[in-house]
Amino acid sequence: MDKITVPSLKSMKGGAKITMLTAYDHPTAKILDKAGVDTILVGDSVGPVVLGYPNTIPVTVEEMIHHTRAVVRGTKRALVIIDMPFMSYQESIEQAKRNAGRMLKESGAEAVKLEGGSAMRETIRAMVDVDIPVVAHIGLTPQSIHRMGGYKVQGKGEDVSKLIEDAKAVEQAGAFMVVLECVPRQLAKEITEMLSIPTIGIGAGPDCDGQVLVFHDLLGLLGDFRPKFVKQYANLSDIIDTAVKSYISEVTSGTFPDDSQSFH
Ligand code: KIV
Repeated sequence: MDKITVPSLKSMKGGAKITMLTAYDHPTAKILDKAGVDTILVGDSVGPVVLGYPNTIPVTVEEMIHHTRAVVRGTKRALVIIDMPFMSYQESIEQAKRNAGRMLKESGAEAVKLEGGSAMRETIRAMVDVDIPVVAHIGLTPQSIHRMGGYKVQGKGEDVSKLIEDAKAVEQAGAFMVVLECVPRQLAKEITEMLSIPTIGIGAGPDCDGQVLVFHDLLGLLGDFRPKFVKQYANLSDIIDTAVKSYISEVTSGTFPDDSQSFH
């Protein structure tokens, strides 16, 4: 299968659905890439999902580079996107370009993702002007958790026109793709039809040009926590629990290792 590139993703607009999953490490990236996922997002969700942070706010540029390098080493075909963490791009356009450039150079990722709509217009434009491919992220933006007061569906009531304005702004600024998070299905459909760049939905219904999920949600690795938009395709927590308990029981009873796992 051909390597996925920024132009090939743009050409999928309105055609075959684009698949995106998160990964934060080398073995996961290898599995996702071999399975044929189009793009791998090293999300700043690494904070709450893998590093035990309460949310994405504490994640650093160094942590993003560290995890992304492992993912890139495990990826051949998929396009790897690195998330810009909170306050690594909001201070100034110069700061955004410096950090985005460093993140691409040191991690090997092929595009950056950042949160925000109209407010990020000039930042996105400046990054695209120096050949940094940008994926925008609007709707529920987890880095705005404190302003939003929780993870809530966006784009309802008065927010509808703001979200449409945000979508148009990031497209005009040169983003090549946009993530729509927790947006009502009909509004996500309208935005998808309105834009010439692909939309990637998470909690935004089936009419987006593609879908993204957090890998650990898809596989039931986060216990009972399951947002409404997640479809759990396996329950690996239970499988791991059973395997680990069998290991403990066999070690303590003396049945593992046996002769077949021993050297002679
Ligand atoms: O950080 C992340 O994993 C994300 C996706 C949920 C879109 O931004």
